[in-house]
Amino acid sequence: MSVNILKINKPIWFMRQAGRHLPEYRKLRQKKKSFLEFCFDFDCIVESSLQPIRRYDIDCAIVFSDILVIPYLLGQKVVFKKGIGPNLEELNIKELLNLKSSNYKQRRLSNSYRAIKEIRSSLNKNKSLIGFCGAPWTVACYMIDGNSKGGFVLSKESIKKRKNYLDAVLDKLSNVSIEHLVNQYESGCDTLMIFESWAGLVDFNNREDILYKPIKKIIQGLRKRKINAPIIVFPKGLGTGIIDYIINVDAEVLGIDYDIDINWALNNISKDIILQGNLNPKLLVEGGEKLDKEVLKIKNSVGDRRHIFNLGHGLLPETPIKNVNRFIELLRRQ
Ligand code: CP3
Repeated sequence: MSVNILKINKPIWFMRQAGRHLPEYRKLRQKKKSFLEFCFDFDCIVESSLQPIRRYDIDCAIVFSDILVIPYLLGQKVVFKKGIGPNLEELNIKELLNLKSSNYKQRRLSNSYRAIKEIRSSLNKNKSLIGFCGAPWTVACYMIDGNSKGGFVLSKESIKKRKNYLDAVLDKLSNVSIEHLVNQYESGCDTLMIFESWAGLVDFNNREDILYKPIKKIIQGLRKRKINAPIIVFPKGLGTGIIDYIINVDAEVLGIDYDIDINWALNNISKDIILQGNLNPKLLVEGGEKLDKEVLKIKNSVGDRRHIFNLGHGLLPETPIKNVNRFIELLRRQ
């Protein structure tokens, strides 16, 4: 038996640790023309997931994939344009809602699940392997707007004008996410994470339906299948709204973004919840004294409380490797 993230003392890992800032990833990435092709290739997944562990000897690997493989599997065309980001073709909601599960292109994920078995067997037993998906609302934002250029105006509008359709889309995505997480768990992931990058777009009165309900459904779906792996939720941009969020969503770990003051979070979030984060990734680009100061602030504020060291959002592509090494050194130092 290998560990899960909660069995490791003061674990360290980084959101978006694989890819982007690593020269060895950029070299490997050249093997495939398109990003999705890379995400569906067994060797590329295994190698890119293990690269950050080899370089930094951190405590957790995260499966190399993307939250937008789900819309692709549901039949929506997704392309990643270099320097611009994802672009999805216009969503046909009726087609999506009528799609039978036998028509999902889920088989394309079989390499992902096989790769998880391989990663698990190459990883030391004291390291955790994290599987993940995007939260239904965040994935729906990309599906409805097609890209992030316009601040997801169509998605926000659909809360007001097409709520029934939106609820149905979120429900469909919740079901597909359960299947995807179950498969990742059964292939060898010991910890599961749900990325809600665009939580902050939803006003307080709509959070129950748009944010909490889909996540509750996913977590209950996992528990019904007897999956007791720790679940990390990361609702970005909610500010003090994370208190209400974590009361409603029954997850073990709450990722906190860089806008939240760590001392406020430690004082206001129940001690039963383990916090993850929350260094500003920009400080890892800058480095120097400011980085040292902030890392030590988080380390001292957390003290003996259980905590997962990480950032308040993903590692940025321009992050120098030496600053990541410094972050780890400061945390591991007695
Ligand atoms: O270490 C890891 O976490 C690797 C696995 C991973 C990727 N994306 C690989 C990736 C994970 C967990 C994600 C999550 C993801 N993807 C989120 C949620 C977290 C967040 O950052 O808010 C979101 C919103 C996406 C959607 C997405 N994928 C965008 C907006 C982009 C373009 C901008 C960017 O991040 O580079 C991607 C592409 C992407 N996903 C890359 C990687 C390594 C870069 C593509 C490349 O190498 O050409």
